[in-house]
Amino acid sequence: MTQVLRHLPIPEDPRVLVAAATRDDAAVFRMSDDRALVATVDFFTPIVDDPRAWGAIACANALSDVYAMGGRPLFALNLVGWPRDTLPFEILGEVLAGAGEVAREAGCLIMGGHSVDDPEPKFGMAVIGEVSPADLMTNAAGHPGDAIILTKPLGTGILTTALKRDRVGEDDVAEAVRVMRMLNEPAARVARAHGLRAATDVTGFGLLGHLATLARASNVGARIRYPDLPLFAGVEALAAEGVVPGGTQRNLEGVEAVHWHASLSEAQRLVVADAQTSGGLLLIVPITHADEVLADLRAAGTPAQALIGRLTDDPPGTITVTA
Ligand code: CO
Ligand code: CO
Repeated sequence: MTQVLRHLPIPEDPRVLVAAATRDDAAVFRMSDDRALVATVDFFTPIVDDPRAWGAIACANALSDVYAMGGRPLFALNLVGWPRDTLPFEILGEVLAGAGEVAREAGCLIMGGHSVDDPEPKFGMAVIGEVSPADLMTNAAGHPGDAIILTKPLGTGILTTALKRDRVGEDDVAEAVRVMRMLNEPAARVARAHGLRAATDVTGFGLLGHLATLARASNVGARIRYPDLPLFAGVEALAAEGVVPGGTQRNLEGVEAVHWHASLSEAQRLVVADAQTSGGLLLIVPITHADEVLADLRAAGTPAQALIGRLTDDPPGTITVTA
């Protein structure tokens, strides 16, 4: 959910388990003692040229917020903005087909949607999922000392910007496209098996922004080690050449309390702040479970299984990045 939502009034109702106040990934509404609904919405402009890949990535990205809460998606509604006069509807058909493939993998039904005429194409989904309140993972349940584990490499914002600027070819982003298309379901399954309580996913605000939000909501600080971050090939070099999306730049300028090791370059700082699409889960794990969780993530085939740092008792929301 976006930053503007923090100005929403918080509904005072015992059925509201998670709402905008903690800027979590999705809203959670209790139906009974053992069932809650998870609701989230996400959409964006094309990030790759292939319409089918764009649809697939947008679907995986929308579903990710349900997984980040420990939930399972049930059904989704398509959201479409389309320039009907300039872009053939066959291309929209490809977008919807790509989304349909990923939704099927997730066992999530697409049951409807809405489209508007729009000069710039946009696609995404509203997703309804369910979670047992006992399995709920929020961004507010981290503790000092917990391990921070990331399940996908970073750099999709920089890579897709490089593609748009013709600095790299389709082949150079193929691995990132493959990973953005992948569901965060295996990571959520491992989290559930280990009874994890705290998680988020890494999307538009980058690792830096989403970790800072989690740290603030959990009343803790966080310390991560730059060399332990999993990165797609070529990302740091592209950032050093100034191939950086506007959102990434804003993410870096927008964080309040971050301490950078003096040896970390501007490019490396931008990588930590890079705006991600369909990024991995950031799992908060009691340190005694960290090795087992990493092994289970590896067995489940997540694109990365990286222990990148620890939560700390530094002032809430403070991030330290060491070299
Ligand atoms: Co979201
Ligand atoms: Co999210």
